[in-house]
Amino acid sequence: MSVRTAIYPGFFDPITNGHLSIVNRALTIFDKVTIAILNNPHKAPLFTVAERIHMIQEAIKEEPNADIDTFDGLLVDYVKERGANVILRGLRALSDFEYEFQMALMNRKLDRNIQSVFLMTDYKWFYTSSTIIKEAASFGGDVSGLVPDLVNKKLHEKFTQSKNT
Ligand code: PNS
Repeated sequence: MSVRTAIYPGFFDPITNGHLSIVNRALTIFDKVTIAILNNPHKAPLFTVAERIHMIQEAIKEEPNADIDTFDGLLVDYVKERGANVILRGLRALSDFEYEFQMALMNRKLDRNIQSVFLMTDYKWFYTSSTIIKEAASFGGDVSGLVPDLVNKKLHEKFTQSKNT
């Protein structure tokens, strides 16, 4: 029997509990989920790729059917390279829809054999994102419960470091 793998792409800067909820729910549909970090040299992330990998590894360590990888260039090329045909994305509030729709249509134009699959984010994470979490954490806001404990700790370290430099 062939293994059904879903590729879950993004920046994951950093991974949130909303992302992890999508991974866990996707694992009830797919045999395997690969979290794929886009390695984009033009974007200035808060966490390096190595830091993001470390935080994700810790967050999925109890889940043998989830793994992590990085990719460059076109997502559809990477998905094909991995022998998969599913792109997994989470959908939050309505504002996500237009961007996701554009991206899915572009990916479909680039490769019709690859399907985009969307899972609705749990209501608990409807209005959270890595960006808003980083913003709150940067001003000392408490983001515990929205991110895994290690991410919370690393956010705290990052922003305390930057205050002291
Ligand atoms: O974390 P994000 O911002 O939601 O992730 C966006 C991502 C990485 C999935 C998207 O930018 C992407 O797939 N980039 C790779 C380049 C590509 O294939 N572009 C064409 C389709 S839009």
